[in-house]
Amino acid sequence: MSMLNVAVVYGGRSGEHEVSLRSAESIIGYLDAARFTAARYFVSPDGKWSPSPILPEPGANPGIDVVFPITHGTFGEDGTMQGLFELADLAYVGPGVLGSAVAMDKELTKRVLRDAGVPIVDFLVQRRGELNPAAIIERLGLPVFVKPANLGSSVGINKAKTVQALGEALEEAARYDTKIIIERAVSGREFECSVLGNEYLASSFPCEILPEREFYDYEAKYILGTTRIEMPAQLEREQTARIRQLAIDAVRALDCEGMARVDFLFETASGQFYVNEVNTLPGFTSISMYPKMWEHSGIAYSDLLTRLIDLALARHARRKATQFRR
Ligand SMILES: Nc1ncnc2c1ncn2[C@@H]1O[C@H](COP(=O)(O)OP(=O)(O)O)[C@@H](O)[C@H]1O
Ligand SMILES: [Mg+2]
Repeated sequence: MSMLNVAVVYGGRSGEHEVSLRSAESIIGYLDAARFTAARYFVSPDGKWSPSPILPEPGANPGIDVVFPITHGTFGEDGTMQGLFELADLAYVGPGVLGSAVAMDKELTKRVLRDAGVPIVDFLVQRRGELNPAAIIERLGLPVFVKPANLGSSVGINKAKTVQALGEALEEAARYDTKIIIERAVSGREFECSVLGNEYLASSFPCEILPEREFYDYEAKYILGTTRIEMPAQLEREQTARIRQLAIDAVRALDCEGMARVDFLFETASGQFYVNEVNTLPGFTSISMYPKMWEHSGIAYSDLLTRLIDLALARHARRKATQFRR
């Protein structure tokens, strides 16, 4: 087998730039050296590429056999980057343009999941300039979660328990997006589950996130280091099976081939699981949840990278075999 050159695209313009640097170091360090060589494509916080950009024309990047983008968040995980690879006719790891774009938008994600019969929490959407707290309280009551529709890392997200806090939360979310999503607050536990595959999807054993705070906010994710992870999650056998099936259903509905990490809310009072969100380029350091869950399910980090690359190549080959005009 000849060596494949893997272009690892990392950094990027989002708030998750730093996390991406760490994900990339792990990926480059663990790629199977018998099959792959890695080439670094760094994207700076202002969007400049080095040593050179990936060019949009087919055939213009002869040194690249497959791209491994690990640019989390805006301009990396939202379909924009994936569009560049499609134009360039390159194989790439992770979901395509459509799945990436839909999964990035919390409203569209919920609409698609609801249509597919995947349980989601009650929500409503309001636009900046048309914010209406009274309508929120009438529909959802309090407390609610208020979120910018297209962001991540819990930035701009607040739990509002009072009318005054709701006003402040709406104002804050509106700083980050013109579209705000408001959700009924679920009281209970939080789980994550990894999904891998193209036509045939497999899901990992889930883990539980225990932020030891009001919720899994930015501080809990990146600063405090107090969040505990239960791996695998302590659940009844049927509950584990339920999460694993819903994770696959969600990924199928959202057309997120390759990989995705599906995050769940569990309501203690009702025993109901809800899909909260789907992350298409999840954190990928060797201690990140997505690869850790696979490790606990029998796929080591290095083998996971190989599988993802093979899935990317298979998808590209399938697309090549598809006719786009008469
Ligand atoms: N409807 C909800 N009920 C209870 N907790 C929620 C709800 N929505 C979000 N959370 C909490 O807020 C965190 C961040 O919300 P999330 O939608 O995952 O945003 P992000 O994309 O920034 O990760 C979740 O991990 C969870 O702890
Ligand atoms: Mg989240």
